[in-house]
Amino acid sequence: MAGSGRVCRVFVTGGDRGIGRAVVERFAEAGCSVWFTYRGCRGCAEETLRVLEGLGVEARYSRLDVSDPGMVEEVASRVGGAWGWVNVLVNNAGVIHFGSLEETSLEDWERVIRVNLTGAFLVTRAFLPLLEAAPWASIVNVASIAGETGNVVASAAYAASKAGLIGLTRRLAVELAPRGIRVNAVAPSFVETDMVRGFIDTPEKRKRVEELHPLRMIIQPRDVAEAVYFLAMPDTARAITGQVLRVNAGRLTC
Ligand SMILES: NC(=O)c1ccc[n+]([C@@H]2O[C@H](COP(=O)([O-])OP(=O)(O)OC[C@H]3O[C@@H](n4cnc5c(N)ncnc54)[C@H](OP(=O)(O)O)[C@@H]3O)[C@@H](O)[C@H]2O)c1
Repeated sequence: MAGSGRVCRVFVTGGDRGIGRAVVERFAEAGCSVWFTYRGCRGCAEETLRVLEGLGVEARYSRLDVSDPGMVEEVASRVGGAWGWVNVLVNNAGVIHFGSLEETSLEDWERVIRVNLTGAFLVTRAFLPLLEAAPWASIVNVASIAGETGNVVASAAYAASKAGLIGLTRRLAVELAPRGIRVNAVAPSFVETDMVRGFIDTPEKRKRVEELHPLRMIIQPRDVAEAVYFLAMPDTARAITGQVLRVNAGRLTC
């Protein structure tokens, strides 16, 4: 049980690896039941499940492409059938495209927007009845520094999708507050995951990324997970909604 002896049920998209996996583990360490999704890496999901079972909590996973409305509805209905309600929804699943405007095809643009922005919309809409049915509920969206400042390496599609996700966060915070559901976002800078592996895979590149950050560090998935956990839980953040928490090691510009 998390915090004050509360039951806590958490659903995380893209929880099989990277930031999502750290988020799932963080909630599991607090005693929450966790249900996470993967899209392509079944082996990652299996490995994450083993770790969670080792923590002694209830843990399940489903395959989900967040950009597929039918699949989203199907998974939400499976979660609803098993649990009845969900306390915390973390919209974490995401993809990136690197390149200039000229290097971004319409397909690249649409894929990034569909996963990062439309996916969060679809999952949130499908899970809303489960959040409303819970004794307390909150949503945390995993945005990005790219959505606030642009980014030295991300594409226009990625920055636009994350700026859109921040807009979605702010609007839903207003819309869902009367129903007792808080909605916040985190906006990390570079985090050491597969997504940005190519920028930190040599000591020279790591140093360049470290130097982008006043704290001279490379942010780890667990750093983001702690921020997500803080925002999600009523014990720590019951008066916080519509906010974007920057997990950026002090980096305020692109
Ligand atoms: N790493 C960074 O520097 C950084 C910085 C700021 C924000 N973020 C954001 O953090 C979130 C997690 O990224 P990460 O760094 O952990 O990346 P990652 O290691 O590449 O993981 C991406 C996750 O998203 C899942 N996914 C991808 N496409 C999906 C789809 N269509 N439907 C459902 N799930 C899908 C993947 O599932 P599979 O494993 O099955 O492929 C995986 O679980 C993303 O939203 C990303 O934009 C990352």
